[in-house]
This record gives sequence, structure tokens and C-alpha cells, in this order.
Amino acid sequence: MFEVYEPMEDSFLLAEHVKRYSKGFVLDVGTGPGIQAIAASEKAKLVIGIDISRDAIKLARENAFKQNVKNICFFESSLFDLFKKIQAKKQFKNNFLKEIKNKRIHSFLEKNVLFDLIIFNPPYLPQDKGISDKSIYGGIKGHETLERFFSEASEYLKENGKILIVFSSLTNKEKVDKILQDYYFEFKKLDEKKLFFETLFVYLIKKSSLLKTLEKKGLRNIKKFARGHRGLLYQANLKKKGVAIKTKNPKSKAKARIANEVKWIKILNKYKIGPKLLFSGREYFAYEFVEGDFILDFIEKNNKEDIIKIIKNVFNQLYIMDKLKVDKEEMHHPLKHIIIDKKPVLIDFERCKKTKKPKNITQFCQFLMSWSTGLLLKQKGIKLNKDKIIKLAKTYKKEQTKENLNKILNTLN
Ligand SMILES: C[S@@+](CC[C@H](N)C(=O)[O-])C[C@H]1O[C@@H](n2cnc3c(N)ncnc32)[C@H](O)[C@@H]1O
Repeated sequence: MFEVYEPMEDSFLLAEHVKRYSKGFVLDVGTGPGIQAIAASEKAKLVIGIDISRDAIKLARENAFKQNVKNICFFESSLFDLFKKIQAKKQFKNNFLKEIKNKRIHSFLEKNVLFDLIIFNPPYLPQDKGISDKSIYGGIKGHETLERFFSEASEYLKENGKILIVFSSLTNKEKVDKILQDYYFEFKKLDEKKLFFETLFVYLIKKSSLLKTLEKKGLRNIKKFARGHRGLLYQANLKKKGVAIKTKNPKSKAKARIANEVKWIKILNKYKIGPKLLFSGREYFAYEFVEGDFILDFIEKNNKEDIIKIIKNVFNQLYIMDKLKVDKEEMHHPLKHIIIDKKPVLIDFERCKKTKKPKNITQFCQFLMSWSTGLLLKQKGIKLNKDKIIKLAKTYKKEQTKENLNKILNTLN
């Protein structure tokens, strides 16, 4: 069932702020009957209203016409999909623009679509079983549409552009705040209104300075990385390549971790160790995204020969680190420290430190001989001679030579 949303308390509350913040080029997402778009048109140069519902677009056009608003146009689109299509498909763009008679809209859509203000009064209620109404339900939990919106909004917002949203306590305010942080936005609560069974919030949102910096470097589609990791890890695209961005975790008390990691990756990259560093700043660094499996998943999925090849490769990288007198730390538990695609790539160097007696190789031996790894290796036909490895690891510990390392490697068959 699809009904055009009848403006309510949330609409009126947001519209007050829309009037204040409108300027330049404005986008009203989920325009419904066009209330926000029409409110924005007073001060804006041009307003575009979009909605997933064809009926809403029809009604919004009628309402704008009745009020004699000229600097406005409405298009059917699920969030930013229309702009994405215009940018990605030349033929679609040409056909679409052919139909646009208004010169200002035509030239705006022809170039990079960037707005000074984006407004969204989203469908924000958690889904009721058996009822499907996209004008009010924002997904099973209520915030899914809003999350998709924030995952894409920055692409269509000018560097110093603003976003205005209204949402309800029924959507889960903490979750909305977290989504905003996950996508590197800064926000301010402009308004709060208590109603009978919910509280409404109006937020003014802008890009964080880090987001602006990263976008200036050409990074796009920046989003929090899903894979569980320590620190804050983001994923983005640079041209067509995948990039990972690591930033300081605001909750962490550790000092200068980012600077330390950058220092070591720069050194280790010279020896083809670690992910390739692309660029860095005081509070972040970006490196080529490493696709692949963590070590235990890799062992589980592969055969004996490939596993031994990869383990030996890890040992050789760790040997270089031992020779450089740097301790990676945590190699006795490197579950999330080695990603294997074709080759193993060591990641996470934040705790790296210079030391006289590095323990990289001996710790990795410890990991291989641990009960659970040993069991997994045994299933793959790799039986470790524990007593022998312990003895050889002790010898290596005393004298960290290639010869002593090779003796350990030779036990792996
Ligand atoms: C709460 S109403 C807001 C209507 C109007 N902007 C207002 O302030 O009263 C949410 C609107 O979002 C639209 N909508 C829902 N999902 C959408 C999506 N994925 N893309 C675009 N619009 C969507 C609905 O059709 C509905 O018109």
C-alpha cells in the first residue's frame, strides 16, 4: 500500500528549520506532497524534490503549481538512485535531459550534482508486521532507510553543505547518532519536541573535517568497515581501487598509535611487507585494501601444499622484521593480523616497536603449535613435531639466523 504522506508534526517542525537554512541548490529527499521543497524554494536558487512514490511526485508537482513556485522540480527516485544513473549511464542521461525544459535544472543535472542543503524527513518507524507503507516505515528497525541515505549523501553534498533531518525517538536516537559517526558526519541537535508517545529531533549535519580531507584526496563511498577490527577502520574507493582508512579510535587512550603505525608501514613497505601505504595525515592513514581471508579461514579452505607455502611466506616476512629488530607483537595470536589473498599480507602495525630481541618468529611458532591451530593443521594433514619445533625455536631465539629459521621451516611437511 502506498499513500502520499499527509504532513504532520514532524513535517511542520522540520519546515521551520528548512526555511532558515535554505540557500543555493537544495534537495528534498522523500518529498511526499512537497512541503519541505516548497518551504525551501523561498530562499533557494533551485529545489529538487525526489520520492520513491510516483503518486507523491504527482501531488508535489500539483502543490508547487498551485502555489506558483517556479524554481522547483520533482522526480521519482529511490534516494539518490536517479543521480547515480544519470552519472553512470550516458544514454540514460541524454534521454533524461532531453525532457528537461528548464535551463537551470538542465545545466545543474548536466554537471556534478552537488547540493548546498539536503533535507530528509525519512520514513522512520520500525516496520509493523503485515503492513507495508514506505511513507512511514523505515525498515524492520526503523533506521535502515536513513542508514542507506547517509551511506550515499556525502557524494551529493558540497564540501560545506548541510543536511537537515527529523526523526523520532521510536527510531532509536543512539542508533542514528552512531550511523552519523560511522559515516564521518558531525551533527548538532537543533530542536526537540515531545509529543504524546514519542519525541521528535531535528538535526543539522555537516561533513567532518576528516571526511572533507579524505574526499579532497579523491576517496569516495567512505564507510565504516564491517569486518570486526580494533581501531576505526573505513573502506572507500579511490578511482576504481579499494582503499582502507584507519583512524584514531576516540575511545582509545593509547597515544600516537597512528603515527607509529605509519612510521613502520613506510619502513616495512620497502621490504614488501604490510599493505601498500597510499597517504597519511596526523589522525589517519590510507592503504590499498587487502582482499582475502584471515589465517584460520584460509587454513580451513585450502589444501596442505598451499597452507605450507603461505606459512613459510609468513615466516620469511617475520624473519625480515626480526632482522630489522622490530617486534610486531601479537604474533602468537595473529588471527586478524594476516590476510591471505595470493600472498599473505601482514596488517596492524600499531604496536610495533624497536627491540633488541624481537619475538616475531618464536611467537608465530607458538601460534602454530597452539591447540586449536594444531588441530586445524592436523585435519589438513600437517602434523607438527612440537618437541622438535620448540627445540629449534629456542635455538633460533638465541641466534636469529636464516639457517636456524630454515631448520624450523624444514619441519613443515
Ligand atoms: C515521512 S514522509 C515525509 C514527507 C514529507 N517530506 C514531509 O516532510 O512531510 C517520508 C517520505 O519518504 C518517501 N520515501 C520512502 N522511502 C524512500 C526512498 N527509498 N527514496 C525516496 N523516498 C522515499 C515516502 O514515499 C514519503 O513520501
